[in-house]
Amino acid sequence: MDFDKEAAVWDADPRRVKLAHDVAGAIIREIGPAKDMDVLDFGCGTGLVTLRLQPLVRSITAVDNSRGMLAVLQDKVTKQGLADVHPKLVDFSRGGRVKGGFHLLVSSMTMHHVEDAAGLCRFWFDQLLPGGWLGFADLDTEDGSFHGDNTGVFHLGFARPAVQSLLNGAGFGEVRITTATAVRRTAEEGSQEYTVFLAVGRKPGKLP
Ligand SMILES: C[S@@+](CC[C@H](N)C(=O)[O-])C[C@H]1O[C@@H](n2cnc3c(N)ncnc32)[C@H](O)[C@@H]1O
Repeated sequence: MDFDKEAAVWDADPRRVKLAHDVAGAIIREIGPAKDMDVLDFGCGTGLVTLRLQPLVRSITAVDNSRGMLAVLQDKVTKQGLADVHPKLVDFSRGGRVKGGFHLLVSSMTMHHVEDAAGLCRFWFDQLLPGGWLGFADLDTEDGSFHGDNTGVFHLGFARPAVQSLLNGAGFGEVRITTATAVRRTAEEGSQEYTVFLAVGRKPGKLP
């Protein structure tokens, strides 16, 4: 998938918007973002999850490796005059990192596009303050039909026990995995249903 090309039409698909809003709703329900939290949204895309969480938290740093996606988000940030949303170009797979510790790290539908999932979990762990929360959503194991073209797709979803092991392996505790939402395709599209999990974990320690 070429995210730079997709950026301009990303928000025009109501199922993508619903998916992101359902994921944000699950994060709000399961973690409870608060006004004293600085948040990192990894693989923010056009900011569908970012902007849903923004009114509830102190700041959001929204990172992505697609200039096109970030340009769409920056446009929304400028038009809405949001001083507490900070879009940043970061490519995890090329060693990109973010300065500062976060109270909450969120990520929606991005891990399956990153080859080194274990490395990504360690990166997330390192970005969090002690006691900080992780809430990431992705597809449950799928049969390869979710994306029309699997270019840039490194994982056909994830089995929940494997997610549990990845998070524990990176150092996260208090791991729990729930169903955030489902994407349903019409009869003409094959009547498939793809469930999306939300995995929550916590970095040991006490938030400052
Ligand atoms: C499926 S989109 C999800 C976007 C957004 N979270 C949403 O829910 O609408 C995945 C996003 O991850 C970004 N991404 C993929 N690989 C990445 C990497 N190695 N580093 C940073 N961002 C990455 C893509 O550019 C894309 O915007």
